[in-house]
Amino acid sequence: MNRVTQFVSSLILPLALVSALPAYAEAPATLKDAYLPHFKIGTCINRSVATGQGGRRSEDQVKADIALVKAQFNQVVAENEMKWMSLHPRAGKNGYDWIAADAFVEFGTKNNMELAGHTLVWHSQIPNWVFEGTFLPPGAAEKPDPPAAESTPPAPAPNAAPPAPNGAPPGARRGPGGFPGPRQFDLNGPRATREELLERMREHIHTVVGRYKGKIKVWDVVNEAISDGGEEVLRKSPWSVIIGPDFIEKAFQFAHEADPDAILRYNDYGLENPKKRQKLITLIKGLQEKKVPVMAIGTQAHLNVSVTFDIMDQSLAEMKALGLPIHVTELDVNGAMGGQQGFGADVGGNAAATDGGLVAEADKKLTEAYSAIFKAFLKHKDAVKVVTFWGPNDANSWRGRARPLLFDADNKPKPAFDAVVKLATENAPKAP
Ligand code: GLA
Repeated sequence: MNRVTQFVSSLILPLALVSALPAYAEAPATLKDAYLPHFKIGTCINRSVATGQGGRRSEDQVKADIALVKAQFNQVVAENEMKWMSLHPRAGKNGYDWIAADAFVEFGTKNNMELAGHTLVWHSQIPNWVFEGTFLPPGAAEKPDPPAAESTPPAPAPNAAPPAPNGAPPGARRGPGGFPGPRQFDLNGPRATREELLERMREHIHTVVGRYKGKIKVWDVVNEAISDGGEEVLRKSPWSVIIGPDFIEKAFQFAHEADPDAILRYNDYGLENPKKRQKLITLIKGLQEKKVPVMAIGTQAHLNVSVTFDIMDQSLAEMKALGLPIHVTELDVNGAMGGQQGFGADVGGNAAATDGGLVAEADKKLTEAYSAIFKAFLKHKDAVKVVTFWGPNDANSWRGRARPLLFDADNKPKPAFDAVVKLATENAPKAP
């Protein structure tokens, strides 16, 4: 081969290789880079992604999942590891288990990702000891009713397949995250006093937020306090019953004391539903009037493929009017037939609705839905600061069977990925 043919073939070979690559590899694009001019793109990660060990996926799959997270996302949140059940399973100062949460913080910090902490005060995935005590409210029975389900679910194995609801009748709903479903603390029996519960809340928030001060930038301080049905703004939970409605402001005050620089978020689901969103607006305005340090709205956005641009546009516009940044905290789009009935504001019900087949032409519908959603996010990018997916790929999703994410179980980008990246590029500010 003379020098010229050598030169020409040195050009041809890489060109041939490039054209053999999948479409998205031709113009190497990542979510986080494409959205750099707009907002951060995050994902929740589970224990095996954070530690590189264990779980349902093989060692190679976990490695590939980690590579995907590093390549595509610049913000992370722990899927389960910072919930009260995982972090503080036993009473008292020695009852904390920091291993998984520390591993999550180390993963994010090492990879220069923004970290969100999820979640400080929630009625779910919380051990019963938090609410236990000897106080007998008027009319309460001395002995609590026997629990309908096991009173304290065992800590889940990292990434374990969602367990069947313990002791629950066949077909009973799974709770959020696939944990044994509704496990209610019995409020008709002895319980903590308001003061005891406030002190447990204060101690927990100060300890957890204090430990990660300066590392975790954003906290979900209160999760899912709003009721789904009826006229009441707040759901009935041990927090709202034992402490009263001011449990929300107390939680924000404690978090603000523990880290005055952290962004404090109120987080909820089903806010695309106008009625539920109205309750959010009432709640947040009330907190703002009292100067409670609520600094961002977290909208989970567990959606389904029937969502439209108008639904998202309206929802974001109304939330934006509160004057707070909007964080999309748990985005996924259910592609299961059973998940396409209305807004499905109940997360437990949503999980169960992933059973059954996928909608017809699932990939096409998913692409349409994600395009509509991201068009709305981009339209409101003055308020939207971060969009966090609830899982990096379908294999690591609580709604895995409904194929709700942009990457499949082999980490291959779907057509919805291309559409989402294209929208970012089309809307990028033009160079002067
Ligand atoms: C809620 C919680 C999340 C997660 C999902 C389902 O949205 O905020 O932590 O448990 O349910 O997995």
